[in-house]
Amino acid sequence: MKRTVDYIDGKVVMIDQTRIPGELVTIELSNTQQIADAIKTMKVRGAPAIGVAAALGVALAAKSAPDTEDEFVDRVYRAADLLRKTRPTAVNLFWGIDKIIATLRTARNSNLPVAEIKQLIERCASDMIAQDEEICHAIGRNGAELMPEEGHVLTHCNAGALACVSYGTALGVIRAAIEMGKLIHVYADETRPRLQGMKLTGFELAQDDIAVTVIADNMAGTLMRKGRIDCVVVGADRIASNGDVANKIGTYPVAVLAHHHGIPFYVAAPTSTIDFSLQTGDDIPIEVRAREEMTHIEGHRIAPMGIEVLNPSFDVTPAALVRAIITEKGIAWPPYKQSLK
Ligand code: MRU
Repeated sequence: MKRTVDYIDGKVVMIDQTRIPGELVTIELSNTQQIADAIKTMKVRGAPAIGVAAALGVALAAKSAPDTEDEFVDRVYRAADLLRKTRPTAVNLFWGIDKIIATLRTARNSNLPVAEIKQLIERCASDMIAQDEEICHAIGRNGAELMPEEGHVLTHCNAGALACVSYGTALGVIRAAIEMGKLIHVYADETRPRLQGMKLTGFELAQDDIAVTVIADNMAGTLMRKGRIDCVVVGADRIASNGDVANKIGTYPVAVLAHHHGIPFYVAAPTSTIDFSLQTGDDIPIEVRAREEMTHIEGHRIAPMGIEVLNPSFDVTPAALVRAIITEKGIAWPPYKQSLK
C-alpha cells in the first residue's frame, strides 16, 4: 500500500480514508486550508498521521508566504493556529506543529534569511515522513516479543498503516510478530460510530493477507470468556505522564474486560504521543464529534426522530489496566511515572 501521507513535488499526497474500503485513492493538497479540512473530515486520521499532515500543512503555508520577514512569520503562525483547531485529542498533531514552530524560532534566532528558513521548514516537515516509518518499525520490533507464538490478538479502531505514514503502531506490533514467524490471527472491533476497525483495519490487514475477523464492539467479552483472545494491543492518541491512555471510544471497556479475564492489555505508541505536561488522563481534552456520526450510517438515517445521542470520540483507560506501553525507545512497564520518563 502507498504511504498514508506523503510529500511529492511540493504537494501533500494522502490516501482519502473516507473512501476506504470502496476505493483506495489519493488526493493532492496544496494549501493549509485543504489540510485542515482533510484532518477535520477525517480524510486523514490516526494520531501519527495527523501529526505529520499538520506539520506539512504549516510547511505549505511557509513555502507560499511572502519573503518579507514579518508577513512570512505571521503567515506561518496563522497556519499553525488554524491547524491546532482541527482536532483536540491526539497530541501528535500539536507535536508536529510545534516542531515546525521550533524550527522557525531557531532559524530566526540565527538571523537566517527567509528563503533559507522556508527550506529548513520544508525539510523538517518532509523528514517526519520517513521518521514516522522508522518509529513504527521500532515499535513493532519492541512489541513483537510480547505477542504470543501462536494466538489471537484483539485490537480496537485502526492503529495501523492508515493511522501513520505506513506499517502502524498496534498493527505494526502485529506485523512485526508475523514477520518473526509468529502465527497471529487478529480480532478487530468494528469501532462504532465511524467503523475504523471494520473499514480500515479490516481493509489493510486483508490487503497484507493477515488473518482478520471483525467483531461488533459488544462481542469482545464473550470471546474473552471463551478463552479466544490471548492479548489486546491498541494505539493511543495521548498518554498522560502517569500512563493513563486516551484512545478511540470503546478502548476503556475493552481494557476493563481484559483486566477481568486476566488478559494482557498493551498500548503501542510513539513517544510523541506522551504528554508530560499532563499529570493524569483526567486532563486530556476529549473530542466530541457531530451527532450525525451516530444517527446516520453512510448517509442513511438509522435513528428515530426526537432522540438525543452522545458522540465522544475518545475515552481514557486508567494506567492500572495497561500491562505495558510499547514505544520506539523500548517497553515501559508500571509504574509509568518513572518508566515513561
Ligand atoms: O478518530 P481517529 O480515527 O483519528 O482515532 C484514531 C485512534 O483512536 C487510534 O487508535 C490512535 O490515533 C492511534 S493511531 C496509531
